[in-house]
Amino acid sequence: MRKPLIAGNWKMFKTVQEATFYTKELRSLVKDIHDVLVVIAPPFTAIHACSEAARNSNIAVSAQNMFWEKQGAFTGEISAAMVKEAGAEYVIIGHSERRTLFGETDVTVNRKVLAAIAASLTPIVCIGETLEQRDRNETLDVIDRQIKGGLDSLTGDQVAALVIAYEPVWAIGTGRNATPAQAGEVHAHIRSRLRQWFGAPAAETCLVIYGGSVKPDNIQDHIAQPDVDGALVGGARLDVRAFQDIVVKSRPATV
Ligand code: 13P
Repeated sequence: MRKPLIAGNWKMFKTVQEATFYTKELRSLVKDIHDVLVVIAPPFTAIHACSEAARNSNIAVSAQNMFWEKQGAFTGEISAAMVKEAGAEYVIIGHSERRTLFGETDVTVNRKVLAAIAASLTPIVCIGETLEQRDRNETLDVIDRQIKGGLDSLTGDQVAALVIAYEPVWAIGTGRNATPAQAGEVHAHIRSRLRQWFGAPAAETCLVIYGGSVKPDNIQDHIAQPDVDGALVGGARLDVRAFQDIVVKSRPATV
């Protein structure tokens, strides 16, 4: 039985002060929830403060990105060990905003995934098609390419321990949610490819979460799909009560 995971991707929002306040509030709101993995992904500058505010709680902290090299002359970049030391346990890799705005590719995603695993961070690997690709009926080919490229050379055990976030690009920040059936179809496809390429234990254990305009009023429809193990939440994570609501509605007993 896979434990649901709800992660809030804060993107470029919240100062250290705002992030600390939010984390403390969320901590008390979800303190009795032990059947959902709760993850927050603040900007780099607030990772340490959020980790301190979440210490000994059931909230884990994620980075939103990292660089694959261990150290060196890479102005502006941050290594896996650095985010780990700051308190992160997870790292989001290959978000569509990184792919479209900052030129990330399946090759760079793969380097980052390998570096994250080497530093004992859990990667949350983002994949998903654009609207044009969906309209051209290329969705499943795009997904295959992104899984193959992004997870190249990983072992079954390594895949079992990571998180894949299916985020159709056309559903991010648009209010245009994929229907549960659309998401469910792609999630089932991802799971079958994981089984084919990395073995049944990896496919059964790897968490595959959905992202794209997830809100309190649609989370239950998504999580009710057998291969949807949680959500990567953008806009709705800014309001701590909406985020708490999404966490509560993802509890196995409520689905
Ligand atoms: P929205 O929930 O705002 O659509 O963002 C989704 C997302 O990008 C999560 O990573």
